[in-house]
Amino acid sequence: MDDTTRSSRGEADMAPPRIDGRLKVTGACRYAADFRLRGLAHAVMVTSDIARGRIEAVDMDAARAVPGVLDILSHGDMEGVNPPGFGTSSFTSLGPLHTQDIVHDGQIVALVVAESYEAACEGAEAVAITYAREPAAGTLSADGVEVEEDEDSAVSTGDFDAIFADAPVQLDLEYHTASETHNAIELFSTTCVWEEGRLTVYEPSQNVFGFRGQIAAQLGIEPGLVRVISPYVGGGFGSKGPITPRTAIVAVAARRLGRPVRCVATRMQGYTTTSYRAETRQRVRIGAHRDGRIAAFGHDGWELTSRTDDYITGGNDLTVRLYGYDAVCARTYAVRTDRQTPGYMRSPPETPYVFALETALDELAEKLRIDPVALRRINDTDIDPVSRKTYTSRSLMQCYDAASDAFGWSRRNPAPRSMRDGEWLVGFGCATATYPTHVAAATARVRFGADGSVLVESASHEIGTGIRTVAAQMAAERLGVPLSSVSVAMGDTDLPPAPVSGGSNSTASVCSAVMQACDRIRDRLFRAAPADSRLGNGDPDSFRIKDGAVRAGENRILGIEEVFRSMGAGMIEEYAEFVPAGAPDDAIRKLYDGKTSMVGEYMGSKLMYAFGAIFVEVRVHSRTREIRVPRMTGAFAAGRIMNPRTARSQLMGGMIWGMSCALLEETQIDPHTARYVNRDLQDYLLPVNADIGEVDVLFVPEEDNEVNPAGVKGLGELGNVGTNAAVANAVYHATGKRVRHFPIRIEDLLETG
Ligand code: MOS
Repeated sequence: MDDTTRSSRGEADMAPPRIDGRLKVTGACRYAADFRLRGLAHAVMVTSDIARGRIEAVDMDAARAVPGVLDILSHGDMEGVNPPGFGTSSFTSLGPLHTQDIVHDGQIVALVVAESYEAACEGAEAVAITYAREPAAGTLSADGVEVEEDEDSAVSTGDFDAIFADAPVQLDLEYHTASETHNAIELFSTTCVWEEGRLTVYEPSQNVFGFRGQIAAQLGIEPGLVRVISPYVGGGFGSKGPITPRTAIVAVAARRLGRPVRCVATRMQGYTTTSYRAETRQRVRIGAHRDGRIAAFGHDGWELTSRTDDYITGGNDLTVRLYGYDAVCARTYAVRTDRQTPGYMRSPPETPYVFALETALDELAEKLRIDPVALRRINDTDIDPVSRKTYTSRSLMQCYDAASDAFGWSRRNPAPRSMRDGEWLVGFGCATATYPTHVAAATARVRFGADGSVLVESASHEIGTGIRTVAAQMAAERLGVPLSSVSVAMGDTDLPPAPVSGGSNSTASVCSAVMQACDRIRDRLFRAAPADSRLGNGDPDSFRIKDGAVRAGENRILGIEEVFRSMGAGMIEEYAEFVPAGAPDDAIRKLYDGKTSMVGEYMGSKLMYAFGAIFVEVRVHSRTREIRVPRMTGAFAAGRIMNPRTARSQLMGGMIWGMSCALLEETQIDPHTARYVNRDLQDYLLPVNADIGEVDVLFVPEEDNEVNPAGVKGLGELGNVGTNAAVANAVYHATGKRVRHFPIRIEDLLETG
């Protein structure tokens, strides 16, 4: 292990705590559904109990008779409203009340508005709908799916077929990953208030400007007439990046009623009225030399999607670039089913596809009797085999070295089923984590007061990542003030726009914009410092700012207040538009319109990726086959770590989700009806503290000033890539049974003897 690599625990304890941590734990933060509004009416959605068919009749008489019921919206009530447009700002193109057709289970079919939540629930129960039911396909293997190749996402380099056929060692394997549902603690909700033709929407969002643009487009009004407020988000994981159809329906209800209307989706409705991670099937072909070098790598994916939209992730676009193969081939197929459109979930392409690659590598290592870490080293590369571009930085093997050391990988007996502790079979497994570095155009306004107070404003989103804290840290550092002097306003379209909080871009993008605004303020202060002052006649370009003073050299210092006094100013405000290299010229204009221009990954002249290595120990009980995970070690290199405390928390949470993906989570669909079976926290398995052992997070130092001015690679999604494969590989090592699907359950290990 490099001397400078360190376990994050001690460092995290030293790092600034979240500036909004106290507010959160004391319940003082107001989430979108917490705002108190005069005259608020409550709405409850009615959702379909068939997956495919047509509404024949809606009987609202009983519902209208419920005391307190004020209004009911159903199909035909969205006149003059456009259906949503599918894309990064809306997960679906379906306007559920624009049609009598039912295209997925749990589709919104009506909205009941009442004086109280209870009356709205009772009214919703009383709405009677008659359907003409049709057979529906809800899974990849169901009858009636349509398979379409996504030709745009095909990638190939070299003569894959010939090189694969000639390879002395060949693997041809199939993997399967389950559908998962976001189960953020905060429920989905929308609250709409109209005042003189202006609409205010309170809704948890990872994309307030995107939401604004979508709502305005659907309602056919100017975006400037819409304000979206989302100061805190109790978990999004991608689900709150694009808007859902509920928002426009609630806006119409509020306009019709002339009162504010709030709709909180139930936990169950969250499963069907928003997006989810799609089920996949994947085929991996590896043609290798006996020394472990991979000559040909083929990765095909089949992804479940809806009939209405083209959402697929195409994560094989990444896996074919990850190691130094000679020839590659990737094809992706959309499998259309009678489900709502799937969407982003934390590392949308990487979580399923890197699993297949990293498990296949473990299978190759086993077959060639090469240590799995050594196999990664043999195939490590600094060149993308597809584009021939190099990386701005790639610290993959440094991560392997650090994590394997800390984990004690050398204690592993390579033979499967060879390690035991009493009745428990012990297995060690490892896998690569990687996530593309994204950076996007962003704006920020920073106000510096003569009293040393700083206000940072940017419409980014606190989704649990700690973005407020790192933005404040950046301002404190650039303006030489303590962190406690900085306040941060976010999550409101009245603030300067920031990109969607997705693709792990926020820290890099927002911090770069904050840095720019602060540097303008510094520049103004430095140039305003009087020439005859204690700064001497120094060159302003050599000035620094620290501990509330401008400094020239060691002893020449001038307090900030004096600089302000000499300027005759009480405060300075600067607004900055950060546009990363490679972004379109109109990136800022687009940002105001709600469109994020994301760059990075393999788009520029060099590849930008963060890396990690995950090591996992599993224990499988020799008689019951119960699977436990006593410890996980992850080492990560992600450029500048703005805050080891929040970074560690992100990476740890990601690793836990990776473990959960491997062993617990699956959104199950009834194959006969294409309806959701497990749609609450009772039946959908999530890890609890008792499922999680030690999680050790290591930071591998990495300096990369090419990725963006802040030197930051995103890490919000990095931790849950690869962990799932490391668990599967450890299960194999413990038991000798290779399970190629998730979740791995007791029943998969029954015949292991
Ligand atoms: Mo993330 S799934 O890019 O919000």
